[in-house]
Amino acid sequence: MSVASGAGSASPGAASRGSASPGAVAVVGTGVIGRSWIRVFVRAGFPTRVFDRDPEQLARAVAWARTSALDDVHLGLCAYAEAQAEERRITVCETLDEALDGATYVQESGPEAIATKQSIYRALDAAAVPEVVLGSSTSAHDMTEIARGLPGAGRCIVAHPVNPPHAIPLVEVLAGAETRPDVTATTLALLRRAGMAPVVLDRYAPGFVLNRLQAAVVREAVSLVGAGVASPEVVDIVMREGLGLRWALMGPFGTGHVNADGGVGSYYRMYGDAYRAIWQDLDPAPEFGDDVIDAIDEGASAMYGEDAVPALSAWRDRMVRRILQLKAADPAPRRAPGEAPAND
Ligand SMILES: NC(=O)c1ccc[n+]([C@@H]2O[C@H](COP(=O)([O-])OP(=O)(O)OC[C@H]3O[C@@H](n4cnc5c(N)ncnc54)[C@H](O)[C@@H]3O)[C@@H](O)[C@H]2O)c1
Repeated sequence: MSVASGAGSASPGAASRGSASPGAVAVVGTGVIGRSWIRVFVRAGFPTRVFDRDPEQLARAVAWARTSALDDVHLGLCAYAEAQAEERRITVCETLDEALDGATYVQESGPEAIATKQSIYRALDAAAVPEVVLGSSTSAHDMTEIARGLPGAGRCIVAHPVNPPHAIPLVEVLAGAETRPDVTATTLALLRRAGMAPVVLDRYAPGFVLNRLQAAVVREAVSLVGAGVASPEVVDIVMREGLGLRWALMGPFGTGHVNADGGVGSYYRMYGDAYRAIWQDLDPAPEFGDDVIDAIDEGASAMYGEDAVPALSAWRDRMVRRILQLKAADPAPRRAPGEAPAND
């Protein structure tokens, strides 16, 4: 079934990413992440075939994509005609086979349980023609495990987004043991064409890179509250008015690079002992029971208000995209490998 047929002409943003119309993609599983992937692809001009085992969830996802595009019109992020073109690129499918018909890439976004992922991948591998790349949004699983024993394991790959992918461009791309190198290259090219910022991980580690970094910071935030060093409010203020402002621009190593006139090497040599002393003092497994969770919950409600989640989420998505616009308008001064320094 199709709520709209055919691929509309590419939006100006999509046109700048490539002249020919992109091939169709399929989004399989349209919950929180899948619905946001729909917007990523249709916004970039991809005819997008969508399927969910739950037809009501599928209908909600398509309605969400429509509302989200209209919100962008109100924010001045896209023209009304573009929002309409986005909707026309969505094809709602009643079966997996229908979703895969003509798709060149699949963004699997079903439930995270490993057995469910393996079952969805068995179905995808059986139904999709061999050329189709099968990317997974999994947050934690190794593609080696998901695709183990599949005849088409070579075309299976992790493409882990950040919630919500239509606002945050990073995607962690990770091959399984059997993934073919050309599949990694195809996935990177497609994600870039969709306006995303993919990075390739060299090997599997539970949580990949983003969630490991996040877990390390959250572990310490929980520990600071639990140990009575600072309130939840103060921990959030320290991050949002301090560390976070720099990290959105440069990451931990870039930030270190400008913390000393001689760059990060000089900074780490100067302050290496201070870092080592703090590392020795960090609690590797802080208490994370109801007491500390209740204290954090109360602190968050006091700071942000009760029932604030929908409004805060919308504000976050809006502000993230404004930050991205600012960064695009004033990119970091740096040079590509082999390029002459800017002041030469
Ligand atoms: N939510 C996040 O913050 C986040 C961030 C990054 C990655 N992810 C990953 O994205 C994936 C989806 O997560 P989510 O939060 O969107 O989950 P969700 O529960 O919101 O959505 C999962 C969807 O899959 C559908 N589904 C179940 N079985 C199916 C099947 N056999 N075929 C097709 N659809 C099926 C469900 O009906 C549901 O709509 C997970 O692997 C998750 O780890 C989630």
